[in-house]
Amino acid sequence: MTTPRPETLAKLTPVLTKRWLSPDAWRIGTYEKLDGYAALRKALKAHPDDLIQLVKDSGLRGRGGAGFPTGLKWGFIPQGDGKPHYLVVNADEGEPGTCKDLPLMTHDPHSLVEGVIIASYAIRANRAYIYIRGEAVHAARRLRNAVNEAYAKGYLGRNILGSGFDLELVVHSGAGAYICGEETALLDSLEGFRGQPRLRPPFPATHGLYASPTVVNNVGTIASVPYIVLGGAAWWKSMGTEKSSGPMIYSLSGRIANPGQYECSLGVTLRELLELAGGMQPGHNLKFWTPGGSSTPLLTAEHLDVPMDFEGVAGAGSILGTTATQIFSDQDCPVYATYRWLEFYHHESCGKCTPCREGNYWMVRVYRRILSGQGTHDDLDTLLDTCDNILGRSFCGLGDGATSSVTSSLKYFKQDYLDYIEGRTAPKLSDKQLVGA
Ligand code: NAI
Ligand code: SF4
Repeated sequence: MTTPRPETLAKLTPVLTKRWLSPDAWRIGTYEKLDGYAALRKALKAHPDDLIQLVKDSGLRGRGGAGFPTGLKWGFIPQGDGKPHYLVVNADEGEPGTCKDLPLMTHDPHSLVEGVIIASYAIRANRAYIYIRGEAVHAARRLRNAVNEAYAKGYLGRNILGSGFDLELVVHSGAGAYICGEETALLDSLEGFRGQPRLRPPFPATHGLYASPTVVNNVGTIASVPYIVLGGAAWWKSMGTEKSSGPMIYSLSGRIANPGQYECSLGVTLRELLELAGGMQPGHNLKFWTPGGSSTPLLTAEHLDVPMDFEGVAGAGSILGTTATQIFSDQDCPVYATYRWLEFYHHESCGKCTPCREGNYWMVRVYRRILSGQGTHDDLDTLLDTCDNILGRSFCGLGDGATSSVTSSLKYFKQDYLDYIEGRTAPKLSDKQLVGA
């Protein structure tokens, strides 16, 4: 196990995670003692437009995966339109490998509640929702408890802290569908319909919940807001890179000594993250990794020094995504890993559009053929051709995301595919599993 050098330890910038280890930080009394709701008191004295400007100046970008500028999104909400405005927090964290929002909501739920109140005040919303994935029962319990505590203390409800601002906040549990993490499917689900994506544009900023202007933001994005209000835009920008400001929670999993959440300034490299996480497990050498969950193209040991910010990862041909950094070693098979991810996308495809629904179905069958030792060289062309027909032709990002590991594993690890096809690697699936396809 490696011990991090002092200069690497300096890359750790605990901001959103700083209360996680404080006992009882999820209770309002402890949260208040640790500066909790101080940002709200400060924010309620400011003009809403100044708060939007502050978030714009901080350069905060969405933490859900896409990295859209948060202040810009808030600024899209039309003012004086006479319609109700809504804030919806996307807490339907479902991307394989991603586990940064769940611990935040479990250990520090009030930071999210406080962020919701400030953000709602800024966009002039009097009703907000936190849509949390159905399986996250414990986190939902903690959140509901936090919301009840906030109501009891006058941080939610009518005339919050005597400011004249009213806000009702509802925690809504989903029913366990990955697609409901897509913002428009989430809105449909919240409205009581089957969760399926809507056509964009129009974006939720103008036509969102109940066809009204709606900001949909990720948990980490909203939980960042109280820190920006207290610390200021310049402090936030002092972390990270010019275009990717602030700290980011990197979720490290897989063949490493100490898996977990590492909050570092955006732009940290995988080499540094591995050092912080104690290195690879004994006997394992890095082979491939996902920078931001299974929807992002795989990277390899060649990419150890790529800055893990939005631009750096894009420059290496991938996407920063949710910073779910899954580490695989020379004892793991990229063909099998890709197959398991594809099974997930096939299962979670909502079925609305043909390229994703049919394409993932067929790709799973082709992978089963290859992994059971019955693949042909033509299968590799079939996979790439199917990806071509899914990418850019699907109704939402799920279809595009499903192709990422297929095309990138074929780009970097074609030999592993050929080893199955040409009989050098023993089949991983039995004939029975093939028939089950
Ligand atoms: P997107 O880039 O299409 O949109 C990002 C946000 O910006 C959305 O809220 C959208 O409404 C807004 N937006 C974009 N252009 C706009 C415009 N012209 N006017 C107004 N608003 C605009 O990305 P999308 O499809 O929402 O998210 C994709 C990302 O989600 C992927 O990069 C992936 O990493 C991530 N993801 C995260 C998961 C998780 O569990 N956190 C699960 C699956 C995917
Ligand atoms: Fe549904 Fe897949 Fe089409 Fe998205 S891409 S709408 S998940 S079928």
